[in-house]
Amino acid sequence: MSLINFEEEIFKLKKELNAVILAHYYQFSEIQDIADFVGDSLELSKKAAATDADVIVFAGVHFMAETAKILSPNKQVLLPDLEAGCSLAEGCPADAFKLFKEQHPDHIIITYINSTAEVKALSDIICTSSSAEKIINRLPQNQKIIFAPDRNLGKYLIKKTGRDMLLWQGSCIVHETFNERKIIELKAQHPAAKLIAHPECEESLLSEADFIGSTSGLLKYVCQSSDKEFIVATEVGIIHQMEKYCPDKLFIPAPPNDASCSCNECPYMKLNTMEKLYLCMKNRSPEIIIDEKLRLQALVPIQRMMEMSG
Ligand code: 13P
Ligand code: SF4
Repeated sequence: MSLINFEEEIFKLKKELNAVILAHYYQFSEIQDIADFVGDSLELSKKAAATDADVIVFAGVHFMAETAKILSPNKQVLLPDLEAGCSLAEGCPADAFKLFKEQHPDHIIITYINSTAEVKALSDIICTSSSAEKIINRLPQNQKIIFAPDRNLGKYLIKKTGRDMLLWQGSCIVHETFNERKIIELKAQHPAAKLIAHPECEESLLSEADFIGSTSGLLKYVCQSSDKEFIVATEVGIIHQMEKYCPDKLFIPAPPNDASCSCNECPYMKLNTMEKLYLCMKNRSPEIIIDEKLRLQALVPIQRMMEMSG
């Protein structure tokens, strides 16, 4: 057992470094509890752009910390584990994406923030799950659109906006794991429960959902709803905030395909631990470094997202 009180040490280091800790809802509960701000991808980017701290400690995955660095180049951005990736970003390599783009020169490219800086640099507008619909609706009706890299979010947006979009065929390993048959069984056991889902889930599951939204959208929905029970089809980490805000309500994690695995936990998000958070602050490493030319190219579509989602 470690003799270090990570929480105490992290608070000391935060003062010493003039650091801010930003955490995504999928982080372990103890990390969410010591963070200065917990949010979804859009909210976290906005915080990263607005903070006056010298150091941003990003308790999330690589593309999130990279976006923070793109927006705040003069700040040091630390990520507790550099291996904290994302299956969506990994499933969309920049060289293949460049070829895809070249095959469709008359299309505008809207790319989900879950992508590498190289892919962002090839894109026209970045979006998050909470800003995508608004951004698409602002484009002229006759504008041809490529949406990448999440095909499930893409299909959902096609339905919502009525726009025909060409989709990159990527997916999230966590949101594709939910088992609809088991969810239907759960619904039978909890007839009053509402099924709420992240739009990265498959179309067939989304068609059963009572509400679909980004992580912060789901949190807001359960807080405002008069219902008392919810089956939650997204990464289980979000349930920590739901239980904190609504202690009188019941949150049931949607079951994965394989009952013996914890596939409804994001293996990348869960690479970050309190120990790694403490160590990255102590060592001021691992740090996110981005080539300046690439940063400036990736910044343009991120700024468009900020303007269009504002
Ligand atoms: P949100 O923007 O909804 O927080 O989504 C981030 C993510 O990675 C979902 O898997
Ligand atoms: Fe990526 Fe899925 Fe993990 Fe979100 S939950 S970070 S989309 S792998």
